[in-house]
Amino acid sequence: MGITVDTEKCTKDKLCALSCPALVITMDTKDGFPAPVEGFQELCISCAHCLAICPTGALTWKGMGPNQCAPLDAEMPSPEQLTRLIKGRRSIRRYKKQPLEKSTIERLLELARYAPSGHNSQPVNWLVISGREKLDELAEHVVDWVRFMVENHPEIAEPAHMDLLVKAWEMGKDRIFRGTPHLAVAYAEKANRYSPAACVIALAYLELAAFGLGLGGCWAGYFNAAANMHKPLQKALDLPEGMVTFGGMMLGVPTFEYQRIPPRNPVKVTWR
Ligand SMILES: Cc1cc2nc3c(=O)[nH]c(=O)nc-3n(C[C@H](O)[C@H](O)[C@H](O)COP(=O)(O)O)c2cc1C
Repeated sequence: MGITVDTEKCTKDKLCALSCPALVITMDTKDGFPAPVEGFQELCISCAHCLAICPTGALTWKGMGPNQCAPLDAEMPSPEQLTRLIKGRRSIRRYKKQPLEKSTIERLLELARYAPSGHNSQPVNWLVISGREKLDELAEHVVDWVRFMVENHPEIAEPAHMDLLVKAWEMGKDRIFRGTPHLAVAYAEKANRYSPAACVIALAYLELAAFGLGLGGCWAGYFNAAANMHKPLQKALDLPEGMVTFGGMMLGVPTFEYQRIPPRNPVKVTWR
């Protein structure tokens, strides 16, 4: 199924054809209405921009009409609100014990679903792990891997002060998951070349979405490094064959609220 056009509504403005990344819609037709080119099925990347852009709702894409898509009629955040969202997000390392509602996590993942992905491949899968017992078990594996790194790869462990992470863990301080009630792991097919970027962008969306909803997140970098190298952790994660993790995000209710925006390096840019 390709695209169909309601000729009563279509104004021949060409927006569907102009917005198509794969150039699979032509206006070069007998009646001047848009139509799929030969090979549409194979070449269309299913981004549905043609459906999303049509001002008159004339286009049906693969059986889906304009009424089946949410309208984009709400106001955009003001520049001040956008600045607050983007600059105000912080990595949260102190969480309240209370877990998030499942529906809240679903809402965050629903937003992260709109992250871009190469060729619109949308390869991201999520594994959400909740509860201290399960997270402590995973953290033990991460710490075991860190111990291995300290002993066998001092060239990596020393600059990252990995020994301190082990010491903290032994003193009952969780620098792996920071006491979070939830960890959202983004995983995808190892063989898909779009997987790394798609997962990282989705995780960034997730963290920003959490902040936007008054919640907090933080990248679990040690977890992800261990998940890529440490067999016992991989076994505990039990991902489907061929899948690998590309990042983990702690999620929960922050204990504190930040009062100001910390400094960051100046923009490094070359203009040509
Ligand atoms: C890939 C990646 C891995 C990270 N790993 C950790 C981590 O393991 N533990 C942690 O507390 N913070 C981690 N962070 C958070 C960074 O330390 C944080 O983004 C940085 O200090 C800037 O602070 P901000 O996020 O509040 O602006 C990680 C961030 C990224 C992007």
